Order: sequence, then structure tokens, then C-alpha cells
Amino acid sequence: MPYIEWDNSLSVGVEVIDEQHMRIVDYINEIHDTLHAPMTVSDREERVMQVVNSAIDYTESHFDFEEDMLEKVNYPYLKAHTRVHQLFVRRIHDYKTRLENGEDIARELMDTLMHWLLNHIRSEDKNYAKWMSGTDERSLP
Ligand SMILES: [Fe+2]
Repeated sequence: MPYIEWDNSLSVGVEVIDEQHMRIVDYINEIHDTLHAPMTVSDREERVMQVVNSAIDYTESHFDFEEDMLEKVNYPYLKAHTRVHQLFVRRIHDYKTRLENGEDIARELMDTLMHWLLNHIRSEDKNYAKWMSGTDERSLP
């Protein structure tokens, strides 16, 4: 059984984006697996590295996609949103560096991805979904 599952509270109401966000759920489950399933230390390190590399590729392409989409709809908070994305990418790169230096970052990476899913996706991404559907009642900056 997976550690966490996608549910509708995570949906931003844009299907293609939801599908991309589901990858984060997969990464969390993979990392969780490396922490709990029996395996050798080197297998574990290898699998964690695979997740880190996939997460880097994924976040960079997913964020580009999201930012392009938000630019097209003139999302007024795009700049702040992009800044949050950049910090996250930097953070994942830091994990990679630490992992390469022999540090065990699996638990921390899992917590970070979890936090991202429950905070960024469930609130900040939902804000743009409201904007896109015209139900954002906040005034423009
Ligand atoms: Fe986002």
C-alpha cells in the first residue's frame, strides 16, 4: 500500500497540472519505501539519488510549464510564485550535493516534498486556479 495517495483536496482544477503534481506523490512514496523496505545501503543510496535526479528534472520542467501558463493568463502574483519555485529548485539541488557528499538526506527530502505538496500545491497553486476560473476576489496588486 502506498504511504500517501492523491486525493481531491490536492486538485487545482486544471487536469494537466494535477497530473504533473501527482509525480510528487510518487516521489514521496518512493522515498518512503527506501526508508522502510529492506534493502542494502548502496541500493538505498542509488534509489534516493534516482528520486533526487527525477525531482530536479521534473520540478524544472513542471515549473516552466506552470509559469508559462500563468504568464498567459496574466496572473498578478506570478513573480512571487516564480520566486517560490526557484527556492524549491535550489533546495532540491542542495539535497543532491549533500547526497553526493555521503549525507543521508532521505528523511529530510521526504519531509520537504510532503510540505511542498501540502502547502505549495494545496494553497499557493490553488490560488492561481481561483484566478484562472475568475473566482479570486482579491484586488489586484
Ligand atoms: Fe506552483
